[in-house]
Amino acid sequence: MESLEDGLEERRRYVRIRDALAQRIAGGEWRAHDKLPSVRQLAAQYEVNRLTAYKACRLLQTDGWIYAKEKSGYYVSGDEPAPESAAAPPDAPEGLRVSGRLRNEMFDIQGIPVAYQFSQALIDPNLLPNLYMSEYVKRVFDLYPKLIGTYATAQGDEELREALAGRMSADMRDDLRRDDLLITTGAQQAIDLISRTFLRSRDAILIERPTYSAAIAIFRHQGVRMLPVDIRPDGYDLAQVEALMRVHRPRLFYMNPTFHNPTGYTVPTAQRKRLVELAERYRCLLVEDDAFREMYFEEPPPPPLFAYDTEGWVVYLRSYSKYVAPGLRICAVAGHRTAIAPLVTAKSLADNGTPLVNQKIFLHYLLSERMRQHVEKLRTALQIRRDIMEEELCATGWQWTTPRGGLNLWLRTNEDLEVEALLRESLRQSLSFVPGAICDPFGGSASHIRLSYAFANESLVREGVRRLAAIARTI
Ligand SMILES: Cc1ncc(COP(=O)(O)O)c(C=O)c1O
Repeated sequence: MESLEDGLEERRRYVRIRDALAQRIAGGEWRAHDKLPSVRQLAAQYEVNRLTAYKACRLLQTDGWIYAKEKSGYYVSGDEPAPESAAAPPDAPEGLRVSGRLRNEMFDIQGIPVAYQFSQALIDPNLLPNLYMSEYVKRVFDLYPKLIGTYATAQGDEELREALAGRMSADMRDDLRRDDLLITTGAQQAIDLISRTFLRSRDAILIERPTYSAAIAIFRHQGVRMLPVDIRPDGYDLAQVEALMRVHRPRLFYMNPTFHNPTGYTVPTAQRKRLVELAERYRCLLVEDDAFREMYFEEPPPPPLFAYDTEGWVVYLRSYSKYVAPGLRICAVAGHRTAIAPLVTAKSLADNGTPLVNQKIFLHYLLSERMRQHVEKLRTALQIRRDIMEEELCATGWQWTTPRGGLNLWLRTNEDLEVEALLRESLRQSLSFVPGAICDPFGGSASHIRLSYAFANESLVREGVRRLAAIARTI
């Protein structure tokens, strides 16, 4: 029987080949409906056995890059929608079909209860305003006695949108009105609605490498072709972005340019302006996910790209679930009415509106002095945890760029360290982190890991990193 270790090694091999083939297709080596070399030839090219090459092709097929013709081989997909492969859980009743593109790898890791929790980019619930919120709930129900008996509108509560438009106008764009906003159930729902609304299977999109793993899963499920844009401590290579836009005409660019998940990097101001110009020129919608804007340590980040958008090429997502109340899951989506109107329709189909109770509770907290004080205290608490984590990591010899905000550290481990073996042993010793490959749209970043310093308290961060470093020495 194949051991877990062998299985992981095999997976690494075929994912690597899938990545390499996807890059070759994206680079234009084969065009739509060209035949790929046979599985036998691919196995020879990449010096692996045929089964490994076959598995790489199956992955490419699932992701919509290629399609299979019976008894003929694999062909590069065209612009028409890719046929979706189906898969079903092994114990499913006969006939039950599940989309083969439906995956969420983060789930598998985060679902495991551990003592040292570094895999969740979530803030320690002890740092969130639980008590204050619970006092609040009663007041909100007194203010709106029929709250529970009322549907929200699909676009979101008017009073909340009015308040958020006021805030955002003061911060970034003074022309923002409540009709330019849509309230969604977290940023994740907003990404999903955007994907359903603006993308068709086989469309090209740009996506950061690495990036927020759920976004990868959502876009994969839509069957689009993801073209990676590397993000570095100093932002993107804009020449690369422009070349990708010119050649592939992507429909959108999903980005998290401020205290980026997982790296913590922030795209500088000059690049932000230029990206909006490129978006206008190449008609590429920029989806700016700004979940960590207020989680800065030294100084506030540059204005969002949305602040420079005059022609409606930026859709801006501002989630409040991370640092205010994950349980309420409130996110504001801002954009030109040409983008917001279809998104409201998509939202009406998805759930007909985020629960009104959540919106009203959030509204009253948003307007309170307590919220400002809470965010200030939170920044200090997170910065202390980041500092402790960095201090303890010095013993590892790993490399990273100090994040100036956000919730995570992105580490390059030593070249010879098997990250999957490290994860396996860490989970066994009740510690979890995110392997870099999960954050990479092409399954690369194999020698990186993401550690979140936001969930565990100070002593758990210290002990946990010491434990992780000790495990790494034994691998
Ligand atoms: C970049 C980014 N966007 C969105 C989300 C999810 O936000 P929400 O909880 O509002 O769905 C996360 C969560 O980790 C994230 O890192």
